[in-house]
Amino acid sequence: MLSVKNLVFSYKDTPVFKNLSFALKKGEIASFIGTSGSGKTTLFKLLTGIHQPQNGDVTVEGVTEPAYMTQKDLLLPWRTVLENITLTYELGRKKHCPKKTIEEAMDLIEEVDLLGTEHKFPEQLSGGMRQRVSLARALMQKSPLLLLDEPFGSLDIQLREQMYDLLKTIHKNHNTTILLITHDFRDAISLSDHIFLLADGTITKQWQIEAAARTCPAKMGSLHEKLRQSILF
Ligand SMILES: Nc1ncnc2c1ncn2[C@@H]1O[C@H](COP(=O)(O)OP(=O)(O)OP(=O)(O)O)[C@@H](O)[C@H]1O
Ligand SMILES: [Mg+2]
Repeated sequence: MLSVKNLVFSYKDTPVFKNLSFALKKGEIASFIGTSGSGKTTLFKLLTGIHQPQNGDVTVEGVTEPAYMTQKDLLLPWRTVLENITLTYELGRKKHCPKKTIEEAMDLIEEVDLLGTEHKFPEQLSGGMRQRVSLARALMQKSPLLLLDEPFGSLDIQLREQMYDLLKTIHKNHNTTILLITHDFRDAISLSDHIFLLADGTITKQWQIEAAARTCPAKMGSLHEKLRQSILF
């Protein structure tokens, strides 16, 4: 459902991708790792059409608009948590949300463990809370393609695992294709079928994770070490 072929992209004077290719099937989960500046966020901007490649093809099938949780949260300061989450519904429709949409938003607020904050404003929240509002807003779109740019950066381990479960449930119920950018190998290993390492303007390494291997601590430990080594050297 998603295919990227021979992608070439530069900002005005910064080359980012010289030849990048990968493909994902519907319902797969992929993590992108790589050092700061390796082009992870730029890749998402190419997938969403915010930037256009100078060469190569990006093909996304069966998706009107991907849901995109940006690295920098784009919560509107003058809207409450609930109003930020229902924003995507209102955009383009110029009318207030129906009761059903508000109920769906409240269910998501509960799932990201933010009940009680629905009428607060973003500046009254912690970094991790704001991240979860952004995640809920992306999930509210119910797109078959979900792009998450460092979604769990400031979450403690307990919340992080809770968010893994939430994503797994959404994935299971809707067969959503999920792309995730992360600096934390735990995210990559716990959630993905594929891990791609971005470096030197391309994908230099990739790993496939079998579901069965995820329950084997020894296998997961050695994969963790391989990922660490490949980023460091
Ligand atoms: N709007 C822009 N204009 C010019 N150069 C940019 C722009 N955005 C990013 N870059 C450059 O492109 C390269 C890739 O940036 P990108 O944000 O994609 O990296 P990243 O892998 O997401 O890094 P991080 O892990 O720090 O978020 C960097 O060298 C960056 O300086
Ligand atoms: Mg980035």
